[in-house]
This record gives sequence, structure tokens and C-alpha cells, in this order.
Amino acid sequence: MISAPPRSRLGPRLRSLLDLCPAEGPVADIGSGHGRLAYELARRLPAGEAFATEVRPGPVRELRRLLGEAGPVTILEGWGLRPLAGGDFRGAVIAGMGGRTVAAILEMDRDVAEDLAWICLQPMQRVEWLAAWIGRQSGWSVRRTVTMERGHVYHSFRLDRR
Ligand SMILES: C[S@@+](CC[C@H](N)C(=O)[O-])C[C@H]1O[C@@H](n2cnc3c(N)ncnc32)[C@H](O)[C@@H]1O
Repeated sequence: MISAPPRSRLGPRLRSLLDLCPAEGPVADIGSGHGRLAYELARRLPAGEAFATEVRPGPVRELRRLLGEAGPVTILEGWGLRPLAGGDFRGAVIAGMGGRTVAAILEMDRDVAEDLAWICLQPMQRVEWLAAWIGRQSGWSVRRTVTMERGHVYHSFRLDRR
């Protein structure tokens, strides 16, 4: 998974997610993996406004290798939204995880999530479970898009603080 260079073009899945995100930072790509989305987010923002997180030292090292020490993305280590605590973030993206993990991340650090102006989500499994969970949250307006890549359907959600 973490093998292609971040400068490679985004496929339809990540392109549709990027298109859904406001061009507004500071923003963090949570569980950035290969870092391609974070790199494209950085290209649309002033310097210093794009962040990428990974949960453990190994993936953090790989992300740093792919994006470069002095690249346009600041890399943070930690679980879910925790690396954002105390920061001044406008947005966050969570993609490539199951719907239950996405919800757990948003629930575990609810105070951090509630300080964000927008959150974009692209779950890999349990999509309808996550959609129902989102429907039970208050304070967000929700937009949903669908795209296909290699025969798979991907759903993205954009939550904007009301
Ligand atoms: C399948 S990859 C997705 C990479 C990229 N976001 C994408 O959509 O292509 C999932 C990544 O999320 C990271 N991850 C999983 N749970 C996490 C958590 N609780 N907090 C931060 N990162 C997490 C994993 O280490 C992995 O790199």
C-alpha cells in the first residue's frame, strides 16, 4: 500500500475525495498512509497548512520517506485526532479505514472534532453503518458523493459545521 510516490496522480477514489474537501486549511489527513492525498491538499494551500498523521512509528517513518523531511506536508504521529489536540485546525480527512474505525476516531476525541469547521470521510467498509452514525450526530450539515475505481464503489461524506 505504501509504495507509490506521493507525486503520482490521484486515482478516481482519492480525486473525488480531494474535490469534496474545501481548499481551506490548516487541514490534517488522518492515517495518511502513502501521503498522496496530503500532498495534493498541500498543493492547494499556503505553506505550512497541510498535515498528515500516522498512528505508529513505522508508518510515520515511511510517510516521512515518501513525502520528504522538508516537503510541503508536516507529519504528526498519534492515534486518530489526538495529534490535532491543541492545534488550530479547520479541517480533517479520514479515508481508507472501516466505518466503525472512522466513527471511533471521531467519538474518542469529540472535543477535537467539534472544533473543526469541516471533516471529509471516505470509509472502505461499513458505509451505511457510518452514514447512520453520522445521521445521529448533531451540528453538522452532510453532503455525500459516490465514485468508482476499478469496479469498486466508494462513498465520501463531507461534514460542515452548522
Ligand atoms: C488503508 S490506509 C489508507 C491510506 C489513505 N488514507 C488512503 O485512503 O488511501 C489506512 C491507514 O490508516 C492508518 N490508521 C489506522 N488506524 C489509525 C488511527 N486510529 N489513527 C491514525 N491512523 C490510523 C494506518 O496505519 C494506515 O496507514
